[in-house]
Amino acid sequence: EKGTYPHYMLKEIDEQPYVMRNIISKYQDENDQIKLDDDIRQAMQEADRIYIIAAGTSYHAGLVGKQLIEKIAEVPVETHIASEFLYNMPLLSENPLFIFISQSGETADSRGVLVNVKQIGHRALTITNVPGSTLSREADYTLHTYAGPEIAVASTKAYTAQMAVLAILAVDTARASGLEMEFNPLQELAIVANAMEALTDKKEELEKVAREYLSVSRSCFFIGRAEDYFVCLEGALKLKEISYIQAEGFAGGELKHGTIALIEEGTPVVGLATQPHVNLNIRGNLQEVEARGASTCIISTDETYQEGDQIVLPRVHDYLTPLVSVIPMQLISYYAALHRDCDVDKPRNLAKSVTVE
Ligand code: F6R
Repeated sequence: EKGTYPHYMLKEIDEQPYVMRNIISKYQDENDQIKLDDDIRQAMQEADRIYIIAAGTSYHAGLVGKQLIEKIAEVPVETHIASEFLYNMPLLSENPLFIFISQSGETADSRGVLVNVKQIGHRALTITNVPGSTLSREADYTLHTYAGPEIAVASTKAYTAQMAVLAILAVDTARASGLEMEFNPLQELAIVANAMEALTDKKEELEKVAREYLSVSRSCFFIGRAEDYFVCLEGALKLKEISYIQAEGFAGGELKHGTIALIEEGTPVVGLATQPHVNLNIRGNLQEVEARGASTCIISTDETYQEGDQIVLPRVHDYLTPLVSVIPMQLISYYAALHRDCDVDKPRNLAKSVTVE
């Protein structure tokens, strides 16, 4: 039930801190250590390469998941769009493990891949919000995202929950392989929950940003580098699916190779600049678009902040920044859709779970 909320989407955005705390409690044992099935741990250990398969927002979570698993557990990971992998399978490693990420657990494109890889004898783990769903039943292992039912078509809390579970899985794998690990995802997710709350408390400010940048524009670009780029893909998807503004996420450095031709006077460009090691680079890209007339809206942290930035995120562990940087994007998309009188929870042409290929 959406209770006093005007839309499920807004309710689900607001539930994210609670979802984080729920995930912490579900994945914590009595000694405050990560609780995970031994057979999943073993499957992760035995894999020489991990293939993450997903669609839409879950694919975007998978892009962040690749970074998490590679950096934390030092296992190579490829993330693929399910519908592409289905008819254009790459050369596989000798001992692959497949991870399917799916809120609904019913996405036909992902299921097609699962059927194929099971047929050739590979093992599969499904990360889903619906245990008992098709992808969960047909895979060897399941990890539950515990986000609670997600009703709005635009996925919000399932995305952050997927990334949280991927971080926990990555650390568990790292520890099992004997890697030194200071990063404690359970503790750090509690900090994420607080940071999310601080951002969901800034609705008025974010509504203003949406009004200022997006009430009349026909298009919008989201640019970032490294992990920020992956979150930009998700920010753009959220905005386009519910507000019908043509929105695209781009890697900051790639803009000048063509897309910058689209920048006109007043084109909104959301810049995500949360990472010190690429801050100067993305700032340069933002100046390039500003020089061509773009109105930039910059999201940074206190570490990367420059005077004039519109949104400053509370600090969380670097690995988990995507869980926080996506929140203003979700809220800006929500308000942009609201200002344009769109049907926020049920955007045109879309279904919550896509059970046809
Ligand atoms: C976007 C959205 C879709 C889904 C995609 C995959 O907001 O909801 O892009 O993410 O259809 O769905 P699941 O995760 O159920 O496999």
